[in-house]
Amino acid sequence: MSLLLLPGDGIGPEVTAEVRRVAERLTPDLVIEERPFGGASFDALGTPLSDETLSLAKASGAVLMGAVGGPKWAGAPRHLRPEAGLLALRAGMAVFANLRPALCFPALADASTLKREVVEGLDIMIVRELTGGVYFGQPRGIEALADGQKRGVDTQVYTTSEIERVSRVAFDLARGRRNKVTSCEKSNVMETGLLWREVVTALHARQFSDVRLEHMLADNAAMQLVKNPRQFDVILTDNLFGDLLSDEAAQLTGSLGMLPSAAIGAAGSPGLYEPIHGSAPDIAGQGVANPLAAILSFAMALRWSLAAPELADRLTAAVETALTRGARTRDLGGTLGTAAMADAVLAAL
Ligand code: IPM
Ligand code: MG
Repeated sequence: MSLLLLPGDGIGPEVTAEVRRVAERLTPDLVIEERPFGGASFDALGTPLSDETLSLAKASGAVLMGAVGGPKWAGAPRHLRPEAGLLALRAGMAVFANLRPALCFPALADASTLKREVVEGLDIMIVRELTGGVYFGQPRGIEALADGQKRGVDTQVYTTSEIERVSRVAFDLARGRRNKVTSCEKSNVMETGLLWREVVTALHARQFSDVRLEHMLADNAAMQLVKNPRQFDVILTDNLFGDLLSDEAAQLTGSLGMLPSAAIGAAGSPGLYEPIHGSAPDIAGQGVANPLAAILSFAMALRWSLAAPELADRLTAAVETALTRGARTRDLGGTLGTAAMADAVLAAL
């Protein structure tokens, strides 16, 4: 089995370096390759995602990305920006289902900006559609109008099969959890929302009627997430709403620095794993970033792509042990640096 590391930009290289240390300890037989990605790839190769890197990604057992983007590349043309490389990687790998767990580790319940009694024991899985919707819809662009104004266009578009395949992932996951799916859209104003609701309802009736299905407008879901987040088990939603709701859910758990994600496609194809924190240019290069989201992303890779669920459990347990023993990076109110936090995890392994 092989793992392709794409450190990327900002704190990406720092946190993926710790993943490498953990992997070398936990899975010594795993072949690890590394390629520049995002802004780093643009600087080195003139493109945020080279053809060679994409081919290698598709041929790997799993791909683990650090983070992309930063002010340095904000002025580059859109198709050459680091974020464009990430979208091209997701599309190229066809990883249509993005799993974003929001899990509140007991040791961190007080790190949340919400009251302990609201977030304690929180365990939500957001399933975000990742290769469609307004992120990829055509037409898009900014055009000049005759009267001197400009006009910007994005297109939100979904087909039945795009909705069905990601919904299947959500229903399957729910069966192994608390058996509830909350599907979020804006069917009150959007055509794609209406189709989304129809398709999810029909699939549920056909194949998943044992799972409890609830529909919720996405704005209400945003509110319910801070009001009573523990009502949720699996949240199923589109690309854009999933982007927003997953940042919100992450903050419930105390720190964006804690949360991993997995993007998966058709059975047997490699998954793409990424911490959901961004490149955090403000703290990049200082050795203070929390490596746990990246390390937990590696645990997800072990579970979903590398056929090693027992190692995934061990690694997750080691992270919990490190936290219970008091290991804290700055974002969690502590003083440990990136490497020292990873040391705490390695010690607990
Ligand atoms: C995310 C990020 C990305 C997204 C950006 C970096 C393109 O916000 O993974 O949530 O919008 O999908
Ligand atoms: Mg986001």
